[in-house]
Amino acid sequence: MSQKPLPGFRDFYPDQFAERAHIFDTWRRVVRRYAFQEYDGPPLEPLELYTQKSGEEIVTQLYNFTDKGDRAVAMRPEMTPTFARMVGAKAQALRKPVRWFAIPQLFRYERTQKGRLREHFQLNVDIVGEADVLADAELLSIAIEIMRAFGLSDRDVRARVSDRRLLNGLLSHLGIAESSWAAVYAVLDKLERQPREVSAEKLAAAGLDANTVDTVLGFGTLDFATVAARYGDAPAVREHVERFRQYLAYLDALGVAAWVQFDLTIVRGLAYYTGIVFELFDNVGEFRAICGGGRYDNLLKSLGGTDLPALGFGMGDVVIGELLRSRGLLHAVPAAPAFWVAQSPDTGDAPQAALRTARALRDADCAVEFTLRSQKLDKQLEAGRKADARAFVIVDPSSAEAPWRVRRSAHDDLVFSSLEALVAWASMPHESSHE
Ligand code: HAM
Repeated sequence: MSQKPLPGFRDFYPDQFAERAHIFDTWRRVVRRYAFQEYDGPPLEPLELYTQKSGEEIVTQLYNFTDKGDRAVAMRPEMTPTFARMVGAKAQALRKPVRWFAIPQLFRYERTQKGRLREHFQLNVDIVGEADVLADAELLSIAIEIMRAFGLSDRDVRARVSDRRLLNGLLSHLGIAESSWAAVYAVLDKLERQPREVSAEKLAAAGLDANTVDTVLGFGTLDFATVAARYGDAPAVREHVERFRQYLAYLDALGVAAWVQFDLTIVRGLAYYTGIVFELFDNVGEFRAICGGGRYDNLLKSLGGTDLPALGFGMGDVVIGELLRSRGLLHAVPAAPAFWVAQSPDTGDAPQAALRTARALRDADCAVEFTLRSQKLDKQLEAGRKADARAFVIVDPSSAEAPWRVRRSAHDDLVFSSLEALVAWASMPHESSHE
């Protein structure tokens, strides 16, 4: 038997679990500030939930099988279809806009590499029932606020943003046939990673003339002001430019404009996006996308639910973990005991007084440990030091005036004459008492 997990899967020893907990806690803390409610769904879903709408790439990465009841099933590779199904099923009853988040574990049979595993946890933040671009601005500001909460700044991370409606308007204005748009999208998606000649060839093969090929290849360097000045009056483009201008104004008011960069090469791999789309990247270009999302106004309807506009993003734990680690911003460690209870003198008797003390402290919500066998006092203390206990409580039932001593360092013993007094002190919000 191998002692390793499957490729692309992780063991979370307490050290790694502490890091994961730090990431989850930060996600929850920020998202709750935006008044989102947490939900979850099944980790196993009908296969067809993904084959219909997620797009080819995800379907080739599915962990799917036939279950014992002959159903074609798949482990969830993403949360959005489950979310859309759940909201669709109760759409009438839910207060709109729906603002929900989840932290599911997802499974994709990918080629494992830096930033890509076969399972990951992904924060999903989604809004349903609002078509206004203010919802898009609110959504992106959450992803950015999470970066801030991790200790990152706009010098570390930027949000690259595009709008599929604006891009479609541009393609249509340039006279590119709708049947060629998918090919143009694929080229834009790879523009940074693929030699220019290869991109040019692919665009020509999709039927674009030489001039249009050049124009599309130039999309990678266009900022929003240039697009607005150059194409803002074109009928196919005007309304989309105006909407995007409004979006930027909202982002500015929400205090995140400095993080945002207009970028027509942000296409997103998933098939269901219809509007503004975005991805967060580290500024050095060292890591894969930290997060990605956008507007998907047709998905609820096409999954058989009500026709409601929707938008959201997913942020995995892997890339953000790598980025934080590389910047020295991930130093979570497993919690040590707040108190190590020891009993003296070394009578060799069962440590009844220590056990009663531990129980009283635990009732007061303190994390308490003691040696799980009768030992001499110095052995008990040594075990507590190894456990990195923040304080020792030494119980001495033979002492009339100081049966409980609390030792936080060599120099400051606190003395308590009753268990109640000890517990009252331990319950106070000071450094060394609580977990
Ligand atoms: P996605 O771009 O496929 O979007 O994934 C979002 C994020 O999840 C990525 O940016 C990355 O951080 C992380 N991620 C994805 N695949 C892996 C992997 N194999 N290993 C590690 N991390 C990974 C979606 O999944 C959309 N459903 C997000 C969404 C929610 N759109 C609207 N609402």
